[in-house]
Amino acid sequence: MSKKYSRIISTGSYLPEKILTNYDLEKMVDTSHNWIFERTGINQRHIADENESTVDMAYEASLKSIKKSNINAEDIDMIIVATTTPERAFPSTAVLLQNKLDIKDCFAFDINAACTGFIYALDIADKYIKNNSINNILVIGTEKMSTLVDWSDRNTCVLFGDGAGSVIIGSSNNPGIISSTIGSNGNYKDLLTVNPDSDFIEMKGNDVFKIAVNTMGKIARETLDQHDLKIDDVDWLIPHQANSRIISAIAKKLSLPSEKIIMTVGNHGNTSAASIPLAIDYAVESGDLKKEDTILLEAFGAGFTWGSTLLKF
Ligand code: UT7
Repeated sequence: MSKKYSRIISTGSYLPEKILTNYDLEKMVDTSHNWIFERTGINQRHIADENESTVDMAYEASLKSIKKSNINAEDIDMIIVATTTPERAFPSTAVLLQNKLDIKDCFAFDINAACTGFIYALDIADKYIKNNSINNILVIGTEKMSTLVDWSDRNTCVLFGDGAGSVIIGSSNNPGIISSTIGSNGNYKDLLTVNPDSDFIEMKGNDVFKIAVNTMGKIARETLDQHDLKIDDVDWLIPHQANSRIISAIAKKLSLPSEKIIMTVGNHGNTSAASIPLAIDYAVESGDLKKEDTILLEAFGAGFTWGSTLLKF
């Protein structure tokens, strides 16, 4: 029997209609467009409506990826949702999404690895396809970060946005996902966290910045070395979109030209687990990402958690 691989067969995304610009934020806290843009590369972020949940956003993104694929919703065997902002403690966002998509014969669950959630979910999906009889997996990152943000704290409220991105992973005879690395270290639990007393995000931004650059630079280098690849062999780096300066610093460490980076943080802000699938779909829709391109995905988030995926699109 020939070897089975997992592969992205389609992508989709959803961004809420409401846009909050840096200029809007100037009216809310003591900040300026220049400060935000120069420190983060962020111009604007999308903010979900009060009645719009992570399930609703995941549903919209899912419909698009299903439409762009050659399968029907009922062909989906498994749903993995990466989120830190579930609509309910339970049932999981994935099961609520299964219900909304009206998929009867399927199993569904959430994972929480903060901003690295989508990479964790892809890793799980890849292993299910390679080891089991599962054929089609819907993998989503969906976040309503606006509910975790203290809108009077300028240190954090300028950084985050809402949205959802989805991919359908199918089985294939040719390599799609080539390798995947995930990790975590709970020693850093208090550098980036939701404070249990306030229920708001708190972050030691400077410390997170440095460790994010070093960790993502290191895992990217290790992934390339493991596969005997040079940086020239990579067509696209699609990193977690937290801060354009973090992304540029990683690219510099890797000697990767900026033309090979998909950068969406300017328009989306940091959408946590949704940022990578949103960026993948953006790259597909803009015509940048082509079949058989070699892509390196990378993420870093609260925990700390981190991960990378090397794949052929
Ligand atoms: O998604 C998971 C991973 N998350 C990240 O990767 C985020 C990593 N961290 C960062 O992106 C950056 O550290 C920030 C964008 C959060 C902050 O940038 P920074 O260059 O590290 O600034 P800083 O924290 O050193 O703050 C510099 C100053 C402070 O003032 P003082 O103490 O020097 O007087 C802040 O109070 O900037 C001040 N400041 C602001 N000023 C205007 C902080 N936020 C703002 C603001 N507007 N919104």
